[in-house]
Amino acid sequence: MSLTSPWRADFPGILALDSEGQTYLDSAATAQKPQAMLDSLFGYLSSGAANVHRAQHLPGERATRAFEATRDKAVAWLNAASREEIVFTRGTTESLNLLAFGLEHLFQPGEQIVVSALEHHANLLPWQQLALRRGLELVVLPLNASGSVDLQQAATLIGPRTRLLAVSQLSNVLGRWQPVLELITLARAQGALTVVDGAQGAVHGRHDIQALGCDFYVCSSHKLYGPDGVGLLHGRREALEQLRHWQFGGEMVLQADYQESRFRPAPLGFEAGTPPISGVIALGATLDYLSSLDAAAVAGHEAALHAKLLAGLAVRDGVRLLGEPQLALACFTVNGVHSADLAHLLTDQGIAVRTGHHCAMPLLKQLGLPGAIRVSLGLYNDGADLERFFAALDKALELLR
Ligand SMILES: Cc1ncc(COP(=O)(O)O)c(C=O)c1O
Repeated sequence: MSLTSPWRADFPGILALDSEGQTYLDSAATAQKPQAMLDSLFGYLSSGAANVHRAQHLPGERATRAFEATRDKAVAWLNAASREEIVFTRGTTESLNLLAFGLEHLFQPGEQIVVSALEHHANLLPWQQLALRRGLELVVLPLNASGSVDLQQAATLIGPRTRLLAVSQLSNVLGRWQPVLELITLARAQGALTVVDGAQGAVHGRHDIQALGCDFYVCSSHKLYGPDGVGLLHGRREALEQLRHWQFGGEMVLQADYQESRFRPAPLGFEAGTPPISGVIALGATLDYLSSLDAAAVAGHEAALHAKLLAGLAVRDGVRLLGEPQLALACFTVNGVHSADLAHLLTDQGIAVRTGHHCAMPLLKQLGLPGAIRVSLGLYNDGADLERFFAALDKALELLR
């Protein structure tokens, strides 16, 4: 398979970085945007912006229609059961905080919240803080050597006191699909609620949310080639009904009085205030663009690139991979070399990779590492990006060793 991306030209940001001599290998942090998304953003903002849901005038009606059309596209993208199940938020982090506050009333002291050892801070800290507020036990599922949640241990740790399970679908550090289906089955058998952090997983392949069977699934538009400031929270209808309102203000209210009010159900009840209108509309255009691609071709290209990345790292002396990444990214350290120094020399050569703890400090601590370098791929990357990365890596290592 050719390692030239047929979609590269659809992403003006990548072409602009090319002309600056920058090689972008940090798509797991945020992705470049397709022209279709930029056109949609410009189209909406330049043809008369208006607020949604509240105006009877033509621009307001037009904005509302375009905004709500994205909800339908998100339903199709995730195979959700209905549009009432899709809540727009500002991102994965906000969605998870919404859940941790909105579900708080369901917990009694002594009950357990179960997370895994590889969670991004966004899917750890809201639950940790909820556990501290309510006197709960936070149970951390250990990993096996390849970097997946150990299912045997999970089966013994998820028990009758488990009230909620929150796990990542695809690790932003270890690049492995997690056994979410099996974990959800274990948790549901105990009557626990289930939350899947799809921030990375949603970017790679289409996922059937109904088949996955979780109560809540969250992801961020900006990692999915869409605009920043927008997130999706999918909740099963019965799960959304258990959620208490958390932000109060315009649009989420049914009846307001000076002393008390009544609130709307999902989704609008959880979209207080003016939402990120232009971003939501442009996310719709992004989903249209992504839906128009040959999914098998994208998956094949991503797999070939990832194989090239792993093969190149494997032949370099002293390179140590974190876990056994399956797709999208690889995190590594080099024996005797400080990752921050290496990252610095890569940056000097125009290679945009990420270094540090990748918002998973407890995991890096457990691995005994102060940090690691992460190379992550988007569908616009091609073989030449990796060749530039490896040439820069060799040069940097020559200087450092
Ligand atoms: C696995 C995972 N979860 C959550 C997040 C947080 O996403 P956001 O910063 O878009 O809220 C990230 C971002 O890197 C992530 O990789």
